[in-house]
Amino acid sequence: MAGSMKHTITILGIESSCDDTGAAVLRQDGSNPAEILSNIVYGQSDLHADFGGVVPEIAARAHAEKLDVAVSEALTTANLKPSDLDAIAVTAGPGLIGGVMSGVMCAKGLSAGLNLPLVGVNHLAGHALTPRLTDQVEYPYLMLLVSGGHCQFLIARGPDDFSRLGGTIDDAPGEAFDKTARLLGLPQPGGPSVQAEAQKGDAKRFKFPRPLMDRPGCDMSFSGLKTALLRARDAIIAEKGGLTTQDRADLCASFQEAVVDVICKKTARALQVYMDENPQPPTLAVAGGVAANTAIRAGLETLCHNLACAFVAPPLALCTDNAAMIAYAGLERFNDGHRDDMTLVARPRWPLDKTAPALLGSGKKGAKA
Ligand code: KG4
Ligand code: ZN
Repeated sequence: MAGSMKHTITILGIESSCDDTGAAVLRQDGSNPAEILSNIVYGQSDLHADFGGVVPEIAARAHAEKLDVAVSEALTTANLKPSDLDAIAVTAGPGLIGGVMSGVMCAKGLSAGLNLPLVGVNHLAGHALTPRLTDQVEYPYLMLLVSGGHCQFLIARGPDDFSRLGGTIDDAPGEAFDKTARLLGLPQPGGPSVQAEAQKGDAKRFKFPRPLMDRPGCDMSFSGLKTALLRARDAIIAEKGGLTTQDRADLCASFQEAVVDVICKKTARALQVYMDENPQPPTLAVAGGVAANTAIRAGLETLCHNLACAFVAPPLALCTDNAAMIAYAGLERFNDGHRDDMTLVARPRWPLDKTAPALLGSGKKGAKA
């Protein structure tokens, strides 16, 4: 197959599975690392701000309005014409179905109009393959995907070959950060604002739960944490009539420490499970919005250092939702000979590991990652 492969591949990626409309152009020359020629993202936070969460209908409409703009901007920034493209990759799930459909229809239109091959991409694979785009990490590696809608450990063996070792059985950590911010009157998204407060607080003041620690395996639970935080908050209010800025900082610091603790201990287990089968210490990579958290990054870095594992954390803009990761995952599938056509469907659910049982309650927020 390698002989029939064109030397340079230029691929357009399209992403619209949650609340970011993205279009990106990637180019790969032979076996050199792929180069990001453009990566356009239109966020929708302001459209959803009044509702305390992403409203699917508003998201779908905004995607439909912005997709064409994002695509033409991606081409302009890359200094390319549509006819310079070799293929079109698009998120075909999992995610909010209206948004995914908008992207898939846009990609089908371009594919038909330009007579270009179409490649459907799993959004989670986009996140999970990002360490290969940014750091040329080789298969197999261990991946922690941690975002507003997902939290799972995966062994990545190929663009369509993932094994899940465990994950959250209820809330995703991003959801817990966002909920914590809401309970404490901090701005959304909660991750960055809780992190900023935590830096000023005492992490030892409140003893928040670390669920599932006594259970074997690497499943996690974060829903008890928000209940504990709510109780601690209400106890202070009942006692003193309100929260001081220090109380708030201490609550954030104690909360964040509990999340870091759970993630690091479970990551240590996942690394152990990996090494039980394959004694070579793996590369651990993180992706997803929560991977932007400095305390989580620092904890994982120390852990990897102690276990002699390499640690890769892509830059923030490539951890959160973007189309460059979709173009990249599409490129890998394209190079493997994968092609879709007009029968490509948008899927609200699409697990990466088809053999692992569904995790109860995970992805409540709409299977975004
Ligand atoms: O991957 P992402 O951009 O969107 C999806 O969930 O698909 O992740 C967004 C989540 C939000 O819940 C946000 O609060 C969280 O990532 N986040 C953080 C930080 N930055 C963003 N969580 C903790 N610490 C951060 N610094
Ligand atoms: Zn995502």
